[in-house]
Amino acid sequence: MKILIIGTGYVGTTTGLIFCELGHKVTGLDLDEQKIQALQTGKLHFYEPGLEALLKKHIDSHNITFTKDTETAIKENDLIFICVGTPQGPNGSADLIFVKNVAASIGQNINHYKVIVTKSTVPVGTATLITKVIEENQTAPIPFDVVSNPEFLREGSALQDALNPDRIVIGTTSETARTIMRELYKDFDCPIVETHPKASEMIKYAANSFLALKISYINELARVCDNLAINVKDVSNGIGLDHRINPHFLKAGLGYGGSCFPKDVNALIQTAKEQGNPISILEAVVKVNADQPVYFIEKVKQALGSDLKNKTIAVLGLSFKANTDDTRESPSFILINRLLEEQATIKTHDPIVKMGAPHQFPTIEETVAGADALVICTDWDDYKQLDWESLKPLMKQLYIFDGRNMIDKEKVEKLGFYYFGVANH
Ligand code: UDX
Repeated sequence: MKILIIGTGYVGTTTGLIFCELGHKVTGLDLDEQKIQALQTGKLHFYEPGLEALLKKHIDSHNITFTKDTETAIKENDLIFICVGTPQGPNGSADLIFVKNVAASIGQNINHYKVIVTKSTVPVGTATLITKVIEENQTAPIPFDVVSNPEFLREGSALQDALNPDRIVIGTTSETARTIMRELYKDFDCPIVETHPKASEMIKYAANSFLALKISYINELARVCDNLAINVKDVSNGIGLDHRINPHFLKAGLGYGGSCFPKDVNALIQTAKEQGNPISILEAVVKVNADQPVYFIEKVKQALGSDLKNKTIAVLGLSFKANTDDTRESPSFILINRLLEEQATIKTHDPIVKMGAPHQFPTIEETVAGADALVICTDWDDYKQLDWESLKPLMKQLYIFDGRNMIDKEKVEKLGFYYFGVANH
């Protein structure tokens, strides 16, 4: 099949390359000249393990090309995937401006039957909206179908997730489009959920919101466990072994961040409100998530003293989770901003995210030198293997605040550190 991917971010680029792996010819379209130039030369404009090697492979074998030429790209392809961003609008609902612009371009340039598929996370009713916008922009009534096919990949494990999905969701009312989508995904052995586009759109929001709910649940429970000196990891393990609960997304920490959970939970809350059926449980999820860094800062203040003015705090990890350079809605920055409000001096480190001028890219040793406390915000593997013995003499005071419960508490305490985790007793 000749496939066009519109939008070359995490989802678009990964999806395009997976289709190349399946033997299809793919064109990546983006309006951003710099992104296109980089991709054409085999360079990713974001960090994602394994993806750049696959990009180079398929560029060399001419399976994927990148372009800014909307008209030609739409005319020459039969299957069009919309993978543009759906950022959060001012009231929490998803902003569909990029989706609408793409739909208008498709309407203006459609020259034969095409299937238009949304991979982007879009609110319920977007398939209908896309249909309407395409029809409004057509000069002749050329047939097309719109399909909702949400993507569930995670940043940091995008390739693995896209190659091994738990399920594939296809939302369409057209038998022709359904047949084409079945053919596209015929090599996957996971369940395929065929449903109405509205249900498909809802599935994505409902899945992300449910996972966010699990995280807020364990985080709020962790606060209670902390007071009772219970190790929340044992609780997660004990409940996660119940197959009805499962062990995933039960890691207590600093709260969820990233480009999806915060935005998608808010969008579903907004959709529900608009329908006159507010989802109060999700409103609580958001509140717990916002409170989690506050709970953690209180630990820092209790240990170091409420006045952080003359204290230097080394923050390890800036990305919202390991294996990505994405800092959107990262708990690290929420923490840093709060510590700055308390007038603490902050030094930061991240293995991938680089901030500021080149001379401001410190090593871990430079970051912790002279620090009163070290706060681990991101679960990078690098931080699991820190050489505490050599870091110890560099620090002014030996406080470790482990926002990810990833440090060997007993080991560091034996070395003389004071350790505080998220109910890691
Ligand atoms: C998420 C969904 O998992 C994915 O299906 C969807 O397509 C996009 O949104 P992503 O945002 O890339 O993926 O990251 P994910 O691994 O889900 O983590 C989201 C946030 O939750 C991170 O901040 C992570 O640190 C946090 N998290 C995750 C926890 O705090 N505890 C956990 O147990 C799991």
